[in-house]
Amino acid sequence: MKIIIREVETSEEMEAAQAIRFEVFVKEQNVPPLLEKDPDDEKAMHVIALKEGLIIGTGRLLILGNIAKIGRIAVIHSERHRGVGTAIVKKLIEIAVQRGIREIFLHAQIPIVPFYALLGFVPQGPVFQEAGIPHRRMKMKFQNNDDEPIIA
Ligand SMILES: CC(C)(COP(=O)(O)OP(=O)(O)OC[C@H]1O[C@@H](n2cnc3c(N)ncnc32)[C@H](O)[C@@H]1OP(=O)(O)O)[C@@H](O)C(=O)NCCC(=O)NCCS
Repeated sequence: MKIIIREVETSEEMEAAQAIRFEVFVKEQNVPPLLEKDPDDEKAMHVIALKEGLIIGTGRLLILGNIAKIGRIAVIHSERHRGVGTAIVKKLIEIAVQRGIREIFLHAQIPIVPFYALLGFVPQGPVFQEAGIPHRRMKMKFQNNDDEPIIA
């Protein structure tokens, strides 16, 4: 089944992406709705995963000068473990690299650290709480003019 990952193009697509985030983070993980939908949504770029025209996953990239933050990666429950989450993060990395970003970081929920590690992110620093969930910062650095991550 072909999965298409692309940037959100319409307000309807943004609403559908936010509905998935509500289902996953608020209903499944008990994150408070006011924390889930934060002011960074206005500034971030958002991508969606489409399967037969249906939105099944989403994620966002927040550019902060010459670094960027990946967040809100969510795939509907019935479509997990089929590579959709990986494809979303890879697309966000690609967008960041095209924009000349040299370093990407994210806040990974502790059980999800292995998912991001498979993509080349490296854990940094101590465990901390965010939205009542233990997290760890992870980062990926790029060489100058080269999109190969430095694993270090
Ligand atoms: C995390 C999430 C986005 C992964 O999406 P996905 O489409 O299932 O991911 P992939 O199929 O690309 O996973 C690739 C590999 O990463 C690892 N992985 C994926 N999800 C994992 C998890 N929950 N825990 C540990 N490793 C995981 C596995 O090795 C997996 O390979 P496998 O399916 O052969 O076991 C999805 O589980 C999700 O939406 N979870 C709820 C929201 C969330 O926690 N988001 C991350 C916040 S930091």
